[in-house]
Amino acid sequence: MSKNADAEFWAKANAHLVRYGGAFAPLIAESAQGNWFTDADGRRILDFTSGQMSAILGHSHPEIVAVAQRYIGELDHLYSTLLSRPVVDLATVLAKVSPGKLDRVLLVSTGGESNEAALRMAKLVTGRHEVVALSRSWHGVTGGAAANTYSSSRKGYGPPQPGALVLPAPDTYRSRFIDDQGYDWRAELEFGFDLIDRQSSGALAACIVEPILSSGGVLEPPEGYMAQLAKMCAARDMQLIFDEAQTGLGRTGTLFACERDGVVPHYLTLSKTLGAGLPLAAMLTTAEIEDVAAERGYLFYTTHASDPLPAAVGLKVIEVILRDRFSERAAELGTRLRDGLVALQQRYESIGDVRGRGLLLGLDLVKDRRSKTPDPELAQRVARECLALGMMTSVVRGGFGIFRIAPPLTIEPHEIDLGLEIFDKALSRAL
Ligand SMILES: Cc1ncc(COP(=O)(O)O)c(C=O)c1O
Repeated sequence: MSKNADAEFWAKANAHLVRYGGAFAPLIAESAQGNWFTDADGRRILDFTSGQMSAILGHSHPEIVAVAQRYIGELDHLYSTLLSRPVVDLATVLAKVSPGKLDRVLLVSTGGESNEAALRMAKLVTGRHEVVALSRSWHGVTGGAAANTYSSSRKGYGPPQPGALVLPAPDTYRSRFIDDQGYDWRAELEFGFDLIDRQSSGALAACIVEPILSSGGVLEPPEGYMAQLAKMCAARDMQLIFDEAQTGLGRTGTLFACERDGVVPHYLTLSKTLGAGLPLAAMLTTAEIEDVAAERGYLFYTTHASDPLPAAVGLKVIEVILRDRFSERAAELGTRLRDGLVALQQRYESIGDVRGRGLLLGLDLVKDRRSKTPDPELAQRVARECLALGMMTSVVRGGFGIFRIAPPLTIEPHEIDLGLEIFDKALSRAL
């Protein structure tokens, strides 16, 4: 019998774990190394999700292990206003590599926190409280982040923070603004802001967006969209927050996804990929904004703000990504992966769309290509077959049949080919 079915393990899991996100995967992970993890039967499984979209350097990258080992033994955690060299060095490096003049950095632990930090600062600095987000966004599960998250269920948790307003997400595949002439995303934006202007009580503070909406189904806004959004926000004196939790640090082929759009936001938030699997997040803003916030007594005091150990890890992550040219690698290998997925699309009617950038790709399964009706059941069957065949995948929430494909940037070309082969077999078995 499979050791993954260990009755005692599952009895304890069922007795003592909160089910925080649906069913657990039906196996036990014993170890993880490079682009693979190993289950209780000693079976190696290709990690096409980079853990939770974070392990961009694969698992247990030797240089990250060395830094973590050193700092856990030398300089782990401190009083939150006590500074150390890794924190100041990481802030300096982030200010240098980020676009524009995002010179002030706050280091925290999670993506949700980094967005709370930006939202609180935008509210304090503008003196207003309304926040606009896209209708397929995911910014976290903490209060302010959840109020502006529309791709997960909002039902059952009481009123979200007041002033949360929504814009239609730019969906190049299914937008209602697509007709024979193409996708009129400008009309969609005009329509969205017309509704925002009608709903607003005159207190618009900020707009928070992911440069590619990942958890919402890998929606890549068309070129020009972000610039137009930024213009429309500026016309309303709103501050712009880019959430690069998943797109930051090379995954999409540039160090930051917003580089493609040539738009510098007022705030940039980084998380998942910054710690490459360890809990580390950052909120970047300009000196001008931070000076006003500090003058007004900005407070975002958390237990793990400015912790040295994760900061030292983040420094190493950025060093390795720049040194080993991982952005370029993501662009190149992303093309290989996308070409393979497009080849599968030519053979399987159920693949309605292939989209995304670099090594953040989406595969949209449909009941038929004409209606583009999502096929979430097929996606679940394909995901189960992939796991049985030795590959971990991620299907986005919300009733779609969309795979979010995001292997570590350390993935090798032959592992991409293997992943494609597994998708091929899984599709033919699941159909
Ligand atoms: C774009 C984006 N922002 C924020 C978050 C929240 O990050 P965390 O779960 O670390 O709070 C996520 C998590 O999936 C995300 O994808």
